[in-house]
Amino acid sequence: MNNIDLLINFSYVVSAALFIFGLKLLSSPETARKGNMISAMGMLLAIVMVLFSSGLDYKWIFLGLAIGGSIGVFSAKKVEMTSMPEMVAIFNGFGGGASLLLAWFEYLSRYYGAQSPPLFTAMVMPLSIFIGGLTFSGSLIAYGKLSGKIPGRPYLFKGQQTLNIAVVFAVTLPAVLFVWNPAAGHPWLLAVIAVALVFGILTVIPIGGADMPVVISLLNSYSGLAACAAGFVIQNNILIVAGSLVGASGLILTNIMCKAMNRSLSNVLFSGFGSDSGTTSGGEQQGEVEPISAEDAYYIFEAAHSVVFVPGYGLAAAQAQHQVREFGELLEENGTEVQYAIHPVAGRMPGHMNVLLSEANVPYDQLVEMEDINSIIDSVDVAVVIGANDVVNPAAINDESSPIYGMPIIEVHRAKTVIVLKRSMRPGFAGVENALFYGENTRMLFGDSRETITALINEFKE
Ligand code: TAP
Repeated sequence: MNNIDLLINFSYVVSAALFIFGLKLLSSPETARKGNMISAMGMLLAIVMVLFSSGLDYKWIFLGLAIGGSIGVFSAKKVEMTSMPEMVAIFNGFGGGASLLLAWFEYLSRYYGAQSPPLFTAMVMPLSIFIGGLTFSGSLIAYGKLSGKIPGRPYLFKGQQTLNIAVVFAVTLPAVLFVWNPAAGHPWLLAVIAVALVFGILTVIPIGGADMPVVISLLNSYSGLAACAAGFVIQNNILIVAGSLVGASGLILTNIMCKAMNRSLSNVLFSGFGSDSGTTSGGEQQGEVEPISAEDAYYIFEAAHSVVFVPGYGLAAAQAQHQVREFGELLEENGTEVQYAIHPVAGRMPGHMNVLLSEANVPYDQLVEMEDINSIIDSVDVAVVIGANDVVNPAAINDESSPIYGMPIIEVHRAKTVIVLKRSMRPGFAGVENALFYGENTRMLFGDSRETITALINEFKE
């Protein structure tokens, strides 16, 4: 190994270390920005060294960096925080597409009509192309569903799963024929590309728009696997390492989301959740609904020593984060201790509430995780549920017949007083009625959460 090779391999080790350290920092809101920056530095180093070692002309390296970098910076700056999952979906798709192209062009430039690649390389080529292709088309469908460009409802038809299984078997034939004689196997590789693209579409269309964040996380993991396989095709160590890291972290995030929703991955992928918008009743509700006005709620807040906000999808829908932060500050000025309890799947995407609250500059040290708030919730004077529903539904812990039974929740029903901000008695994402709204210590403050909190702010200011 000469000095150049040593330098290249050393820089790969540094890149891998930066990726791993960056991922570690991403696990907390305080350090996430730094983590992102460190991982990006690792990626820059990896890209430069890969292109340097490929012997490409420098002007191509810089041109590629400038064009790709500008598109990345422009889209990241332009995208609304709430459209982040769409952007992740489309970037995932490009990642999968890039792995497909890499493996395909490696074949065309080195092996097509010439000598056959080693058996292992011949095997990972169709693999990388298949996973990359399905990630590409699946991510485009996920993007379309999330952005409303195609209807978000699940498309279910009879024999869908049998068709999917048949497609997986169908792809093995051209893949095996390609491995059998790679030099003459281009038509088989094209067949793998076609089947992969169709399979990506088929696997994502039966999934409802609201489950797209889980699917995107899974597709993210696939894009990592495709990159890892492409790394084996071109024998590039850093691509193998980076691909495995993406593959593993995407899978971990998918698992966290499924657990927090108390659903299995197969339920997310195959059940067509969200295909009917009907309500599942949790049985006869006991108790009365007690509405309260902003004026009366003011007196409860005014006397409270501790207030915990529990935001959910309705906060995002109303874009009420700035008003909530302002209201929190007014409470603090009044001597009240203020905290924000975050459920891992509140809203519609991972970290949804963290993103909104950090956009409104809510201090990180006021954010509390579900387990931590549950351990002290009995001593909280007022729990304010802002457009959350499923994540505070006690049926998840005390009604075995409920579809959400077993899902961990923020146990606001144990607080001294609960004030729920929502517009109606309609259920949330899971379509399940919520006994919390009928609790003796619960008051319903009906209305759009932004308007309601603005009214509360005005009460305080007056
Ligand atoms: P949901 O259970 O969906 O409840 C949201 C509530 O917000 C609704 O009951 C709705 O009631 C209210 N709302 C809507 N717009 C509002 C507005 N403008 N002002 C005030 N309230 C408004 O939300 P959640 O508690 O955050 O739970 C999230 C759900 O999504 C869970 O079931 C979870 O499994 C699922 N999910 C989450 C994710 C991720 S990764 N976060 C991914 C997929 C699915 P009204 O219509 O009466 O106002």
